[in-house]
Amino acid sequence: MEKKNFDCVIGCFWGDEGKGKVIDLISKDYQYVVRSQGGDNAGHTIKIKDKTFKLSILPSGALRNKICLITSGCVINLEKLLNEVLEIEQKSKKKVKVFVSLNTHIILPYHKILDEINEKVSGKNKIGTTLRGIGPSYIDKFGRIGIRIVDLFNDEKILKEKIKNSLILKNIIFKHFNYQEFKVNDIFNYLMGFKDFLLNKTFNNKEMFESILKSNKKCLFEGAQGTMLCIENGTYPYVTSSSPTSLSIPLNSTISHKNIGKIIGITKIYCSRVGNGFMPTIIKPEKIDLKKIKLLGNEFGTVTGREREIGWLDLVILKYSVELNQINMLSLMHLDVFSHLNIIKLCVGYHCNGKILKKYPQNYEDFLKCVPIYKTFKGWNLDISNIKKYQDLPKNCQKIIEYIEKYVNCKIKILSVGAARKKTIYKD
Ligand code: IMP
Repeated sequence: MEKKNFDCVIGCFWGDEGKGKVIDLISKDYQYVVRSQGGDNAGHTIKIKDKTFKLSILPSGALRNKICLITSGCVINLEKLLNEVLEIEQKSKKKVKVFVSLNTHIILPYHKILDEINEKVSGKNKIGTTLRGIGPSYIDKFGRIGIRIVDLFNDEKILKEKIKNSLILKNIIFKHFNYQEFKVNDIFNYLMGFKDFLLNKTFNNKEMFESILKSNKKCLFEGAQGTMLCIENGTYPYVTSSSPTSLSIPLNSTISHKNIGKIIGITKIYCSRVGNGFMPTIIKPEKIDLKKIKLLGNEFGTVTGREREIGWLDLVILKYSVELNQINMLSLMHLDVFSHLNIIKLCVGYHCNGKILKKYPQNYEDFLKCVPIYKTFKGWNLDISNIKKYQDLPKNCQKIIEYIEKYVNCKIKILSVGAARKKTIYKD
């Protein structure tokens, strides 16, 4: 029997599904919590007692004082990491145990400017990025001109040569768009400023995960963003530059998929999306009080503060996510946010090109033509935020939950009825 030391938490839609709360709840059972893709474009809001923590690159396990790993599938903003570590240490009065893979690429100040220029010149086709330099940093990685953590500890001359090489094309672009050009020495000094902070905080992916497996320790991979923002399988081009699916974890961390046990999919009772890109089930403002939903669900970006669009829960996409990620249990978040609604809709298919579709069409141009087919349910009209047992939830609420499980062929094991840790119902 293969060891199953690695579990993961995956967002089923376009991010902001409430992963932070689930990770925080279950991470007590793990020794390691890992980020294996994305950068500080992620945003986890976690409420502990009267304190709210907002993390963008540091794994949420830091709040439980777990060993936090950032693997080479990520791109890292060292300034952000340093600030988040300092903030948590100040609030919790405990040392944060964070380690970064030597192969991780570094987001540099010029990446953010490139993100900005790119969005400016893209006009109506712009992606609506978080402007954190994520895309440009991954472009450097795959263009083989990126700067990695390991470079900080190599020969200084070699590092300067790499920076010079990486700046050639960029400085032509900056000049063209009237931005200040970057100097090799400035970037070099910027990087050297983090050398002390990184001392004894680095690791080699393969050695680290082999030793975790050998020592029978447990490791939780916390997904950032969501499946539909996946560069390979999402609503391309309106996606991020990494793969937030369970499929990316083995490559990004040098583990075998055979050692992954629980794959926990996270969805809210509705969909949300921030940035540009189509969401078929978007709710028109005149249909329900969206302001109220956004306030109750705190639907404002953790990283950028942008308001999120709200849509009815799309079961076609949820099923796609469950199948793609091989999700073996679901967590349904924000149930309490819909407590005041008289009717609740679930999307069970699309009308597209004169046909009825039950599967997500991989082609974005077809996706744009999808008109949702809804099944309408009666709401429950009752405050459920203090309910502790599944059996005590209103029957109308249970009906919806069980319909979702049947449609996507996956059990919902965790239900969230409020932001706090204790506002959680464990089913079965
Ligand atoms: P980027 O990741 O900053 O390049 O942005 C690409 C797209 O992904 C944009 O639509 C962003 O709004 C979206 N995005 C990136 N990170 C998150 C996240 O953590 N939650 C929700 N959307 C995200």
